[in-house]
Amino acid sequence: MPSDSLTINDNRTGKSYEIPIEHGTIRTMDLRQIKLDANDFGLMGYDPAFTNTASTKSSVTYIDGDKGILQYRGYPIEQLAQKSTFLEVAYLIFFGELPTRDQLDSWVHDITYHTYVHENIKDLMHAFRYDAHPMGMFISTLAALSTFYPEARNVDDRAVRLYQIKRLIAKVPTIAAFSYRHNLGLPYVYPDNNLSYAGNFLSMMFKMAEARYTPKPALERALDVLFILHADHEQNCSTNAMRSIGSSRVDPYSAMSGAVAALFGPLHGGANEAVLKMLMEIGDKKHIPDFLKRVESGQGRLMGFGHRVYKNYDPRAKIIKQVADEVFEVTGRNPLLDVALELERIALEDEYFVSRKLYPNVDFYSGIIYQAMGLPVTMFPVIFAIGRTVGWLAQWEEMITDQEQRIARPRQIYLGADKRDFVPMKDRKNSG
Ligand code: CMC
Repeated sequence: MPSDSLTINDNRTGKSYEIPIEHGTIRTMDLRQIKLDANDFGLMGYDPAFTNTASTKSSVTYIDGDKGILQYRGYPIEQLAQKSTFLEVAYLIFFGELPTRDQLDSWVHDITYHTYVHENIKDLMHAFRYDAHPMGMFISTLAALSTFYPEARNVDDRAVRLYQIKRLIAKVPTIAAFSYRHNLGLPYVYPDNNLSYAGNFLSMMFKMAEARYTPKPALERALDVLFILHADHEQNCSTNAMRSIGSSRVDPYSAMSGAVAALFGPLHGGANEAVLKMLMEIGDKKHIPDFLKRVESGQGRLMGFGHRVYKNYDPRAKIIKQVADEVFEVTGRNPLLDVALELERIALEDEYFVSRKLYPNVDFYSGIIYQAMGLPVTMFPVIFAIGRTVGWLAQWEEMITDQEQRIARPRQIYLGADKRDFVPMKDRKNSG
């Protein structure tokens, strides 16, 4: 009997089965042969929320949640945040290797020259209510992009895919900035192709009457690092949505609009918005013990804490804490930082959080930086989405080219009513 296998005894039938183990995993399809009799459907796995099910093989991002390790294509996040730029990391994430000088120059050129959007996109965004949440505008505008690029539906053509990928990475900051300007009733600012990716985004957000916007280098770099930190995070909720929607072979604009919708939720990318609201509600360090008591009694969560995979300090949160200091040197210290630091200190000594291995995650400090930069909370998840765009696209590309992938279609355990005959209205009783 090979040692890399699992022997299962079915006590219902007395039969024994040998299931191969590969990469520490069994294929749940191998369980299907385990049947009561020939008419039985066969055994399935039950795993709500995919807590112990690998949906794919992937080479993009590695996480060791117990040790607090995050790597893109094998490179530690700490080194990338310190030594690289967002567009270089985006190339690495998408193509799998760090670019040569020529490759990087041509990649940066291509992204830079796709930053403009069709004028009709502007009109479309203009139609939103004045106070529309920028994430709602962002999600809808992405979906609308598919109507501007109908060739994108040809997802089996690598060259077509690559074209859309460049367009998407290039255009997301433009759409994000337009949604912000819309909320303020300000004219939209067109991209400035002489600025860096992050610098251009700041220009489209904050440029007023000046002929040329010059971003503050510390803020430009901080934003670039934040994009790097958010660029991918393996099979999280929104990436799973991207892969699942994309598995129907829909175009990447439609799939990504669904991924951004998943990101919008407060348990995912909406958490940084929720963290800031929470910190503002706490308001002062002296209210922290009462707040934590409420959390421990089940009234709400400590937002920005806990993670499905990290059972240790999120390595991104550590880097963000350092970035915060650099940003505050330019913007002045955000008073909410003191509340956050004290909240972290107390929570990390508190039995409730220690026993559940709840540590700060990426969202705990990012909102404080965004706020210091002058961004409203509604823009926080949008900025997360700009950084994550390349991750979604790399995972989508991996899924599209993976021969083992088919349309994502989970099974269910049906526990509803048995077959019954339709009851005419006059014979129905109020079931309460
Ligand atoms: N505050 C208080 N208790 C918590 C928290 C929290 N933030 N997170 C988890 N718990 C408790 C939870 O109540 C449960 O306790 P018990 O065992 O007594 O029932 C235990 O810890 C395990 O929690 P879970 O909900 O089973 O864990 P999960 O893996 O399903 O959820 C999570 C992960 C990130 C959704 C969750 O930790 C959470 O809601 N955190 C707050 C929201 C947040 O910060 N989200 C950002 C995640 S990182 C960026 C991203 O992915 O977008």
